[in-house]
Amino acid sequence: MKDRQDYYYWKAKKEGYRSRAAYKLLQMNRTFKLIREGDMVLDLGATPGGWSQVAALLGASVVAVDLNPMKPIENVTFIRGDITLPETLEKIKEISPSYDVVMSDASPKISGKWTIDHLRSIDLARASFNIAKEVLKPGGNFVVKVFQGEEIQRFFNELKPYFRFKKFHSPQASRKRSAEVYFIGKRFRKI
Ligand SMILES: C[S@@+](CC[C@H](N)C(=O)[O-])C[C@H]1O[C@@H](n2cnc3c(N)ncnc32)[C@H](O)[C@@H]1O
Repeated sequence: MKDRQDYYYWKAKKEGYRSRAAYKLLQMNRTFKLIREGDMVLDLGATPGGWSQVAALLGASVVAVDLNPMKPIENVTFIRGDITLPETLEKIKEISPSYDVVMSDASPKISGKWTIDHLRSIDLARASFNIAKEVLKPGGNFVVKVFQGEEIQRFFNELKPYFRFKKFHSPQASRKRSAEVYFIGKRFRKI
């Protein structure tokens, strides 16, 4: 999905980021202060690695997970796995039992059918949240991508009680026509 006319595509090339998505995280981090130096960060759906690069540059130690391989990045430990499978959670916990930040930019393969893509993205977002519930430290932060659609309010209601601060946000670096929004949850509490 590389749009060669795209401002952020060229900016990423020039500035050494592996994806235009890096700017979405940079912008969200500027607005919501999600990642701090020294944090342990879990990056779900991480390949090619733009978000992991951003987190590592902010001084975090990163564990990155994806179905597809990812070229190494300093301070990033990569797990090749499916975030919907319990064995992947076990591997994540083996590296660190708890994380300050869990972030997920996982996307399904786009079918072009709005409802199918929406429901698949909700499944991945739920899988990401199920992992977050297991490993996020109390007070930790969570970011997850979802494609908009009819299930989004129900998903928001499920997550709502777990965070003191919560909202949907669309970073400027998201394409204007994109269906994606990010749920931002801060100050996680176990319930
Ligand atoms: C938009 S890309 C992520 C881009 C990344 N944030 C960056 O900045 O480079 C979405 C990723 O989600 C991954 N993904 C989709 N389903 C997954 C699953 N079930 N388990 C793990 N990764 C998955 C895809 O392989 C793809 O690499």
